[in-house]
Amino acid sequence: MHEMDSFGLYPASLGKILFIEQPQFLRFLYVNQAISSKNFVTSFWKSLQRYLEMEELGECELGTHKYWEIRYNNELKEFKNNGDPGEIWFGEDIVDRILRWFGKNLDKIGKNSKILDVGCGNGMLLIDMSNEGFTNLYGVDYSLQAIELAKSIADKHTKNINYSVCDILSGLNDIFFIIHDKGTYDAISLSKNSFNNRNKYIENVFECLEDNGYLFITSCNWTQSELEQHFINKFILFEVIPTPQFKFGGKIGNVVTSVVFKKK
Ligand SMILES: C[S@@+](CC[C@H](N)C(=O)[O-])C[C@H]1O[C@@H](n2cnc3c(N)ncnc32)[C@H](O)[C@@H]1O
Repeated sequence: MHEMDSFGLYPASLGKILFIEQPQFLRFLYVNQAISSKNFVTSFWKSLQRYLEMEELGECELGTHKYWEIRYNNELKEFKNNGDPGEIWFGEDIVDRILRWFGKNLDKIGKNSKILDVGCGNGMLLIDMSNEGFTNLYGVDYSLQAIELAKSIADKHTKNINYSVCDILSGLNDIFFIIHDKGTYDAISLSKNSFNNRNKYIENVFECLEDNGYLFITSCNWTQSELEQHFINKFILFEVIPTPQFKFGGKIGNVVTSVVFKKK
């Protein structure tokens, strides 16, 4: 994180923004509606502060298609050999908490709503949802191997889940009432050009969510306030799903953040 209280940082950061990150910053001003704002100077200043507060995570292999293809190819072999479905990202406890939220909000959701798990991986969350009686389930992932694995697992459980290979950054030709994401926005945040990719992701999930629908994001890379900040132009925080907390140096933090957004 940048030290916002050390004022001396501004000249150096401003130089870096003006000379190196100019296209990215201009896009940020546009996305944050500072360019079209009547009070441009105030909006520009606020946006600059926000921009400095937001730091990209940096590129790593978890942000590449190749990584996921190799990983799921291995998991598919394991599944065929010994029936192990592979990793439950962020653990069973987080999945239970998400399912409990669905259980408590059945009056708003119903069991036949169209639900998409974006970046579904092995599809285990959809299997759990199907076990809970949800009927209209979709999973997409940009890894062909992930979709092969998810289909093989669903076949074994005789579950009727609609799976397809799709890169969310290229958009989806469908509309859903619920979009669920556990770890996919995180993976995209670790990709090359993560800033642009994160914004593309936000635009695309906005486009394929019903106006009164819900977007679930579970992340281990971003805090609740960072997620709110990223999604601020298109989404409003509806609820925070409680996740285990830790206390350090008098401050309380979460290892994993799980939030529910609604469209603005
Ligand atoms: C951390 S894993 C989580 C998988 C699954 N959601 C789970 O909880 O087990 C991230 C997933 O996002 C997928 N992914 C990453 N970028 C994607 C993109 N642009 N479009 C679709 N899926 C993507 C990866 O293939 C991987 O399955």
